[in-house]
Amino acid sequence: MGKHVIVTGGAGYIGSHTIIELLEKTDYHVISIDNFSNSTEQTYERVENISKKNFTKLNIDLCDLEKLTTALYSFDDIVGVIHFAAFKSVGESTEDPLKYYHNNIGSLVNMLKICEQKQIQHFIFSSSCSVYGNTKALPVTEETPLQKAASPYGYTKQVGEEMLAEFCAAKPFLKSIALRYFNPVGAHMSGLNGELSSNKPSNLVPIITQTAAGKNSLTVHGNDYDTRDGTCIRDYVHVSDIADAHLKALEFLVSGKAKHPYSVYNLGTGNGVSVLEAIIAFEKVTGQKLNYTIGKRRAGDVVEIYSNSSKAQKDLGWTPKLALMI
Ligand code: WQD
Repeated sequence: MGKHVIVTGGAGYIGSHTIIELLEKTDYHVISIDNFSNSTEQTYERVENISKKNFTKLNIDLCDLEKLTTALYSFDDIVGVIHFAAFKSVGESTEDPLKYYHNNIGSLVNMLKICEQKQIQHFIFSSSCSVYGNTKALPVTEETPLQKAASPYGYTKQVGEEMLAEFCAAKPFLKSIALRYFNPVGAHMSGLNGELSSNKPSNLVPIITQTAAGKNSLTVHGNDYDTRDGTCIRDYVHVSDIADAHLKALEFLVSGKAKHPYSVYNLGTGNGVSVLEAIIAFEKVTGQKLNYTIGKRRAGDVVEIYSNSSKAQKDLGWTPKLALMI
């Protein structure tokens, strides 16, 4: 058996799309660790159906270090970890912050302990544009000062990045990259995999598509923001482009090109789109009118955020290629 890559949260939206890319474009043997807290086992079937390859699947809670250590005991020659596993709903995190601190930070601590136990040398951390908070310095670059996180979710990503930077400074065996995703959307080009969480979605685009299918109802969370049409602005980036960035980041680390123990990259398109513009774009592409209501603001929402991702282009050779309906 060749070299392994651990993917935590591998049954999730971005994790499953990244495993497809790893299986199709590398020789790594993938070990996916996921306890299906926000995903279903059927996602693994879709990944194997698309890639025609199989991989190791461990159903373990990453907050259980003992189970994690035991399950990984027999695996050696692990090249790296891609750590997706985390709760990611901005709104939910404002209602249940401890759930987010426990899971998002606890799982990261344990995965770093595993890296130390097994001397795994490369670590990619799923971070988020949420770390910037409410900033007027748009588009944001990796050097843009971070404001106070607007939600406990965003705060767990700020803390996660700090932990990773400190750990890599203290432990020279590990080199890591934090990838700050903007808003991942879309589905695999085969149409056989997409965003199918096991819980009710909280993100705009899956709620738009479910509303169009008559399976949900869409409320616009506030139209009184200081933006061009009063609704929040986001930078929507295709999930397969995000997946591609992980392979490029892993290659950048494994090939020894990374000059620093820890570095950060934005992954966005640079194009800010408001909630109403996203709805109008969907209606235009599908020819279907969307019913929606205007509701109150959602706690934890950032008003406007979009990226300058030129650093990822320069260092990783990454550019978003897939057009979005938005
Ligand atoms: C976008 C906008 C909502 C639902 C996401 C991920 C997070 C991170 C950043 C990766 C906001 C509005 C939404 C609805 C609405 N990505 N909205 N009605 O909060 O930016 O965070 O991207 O790490 O993990 O969750 O995305 O899609 O929830 O919201 O009006 O029914 O759409 O208020 O302004 P968000 P989102």
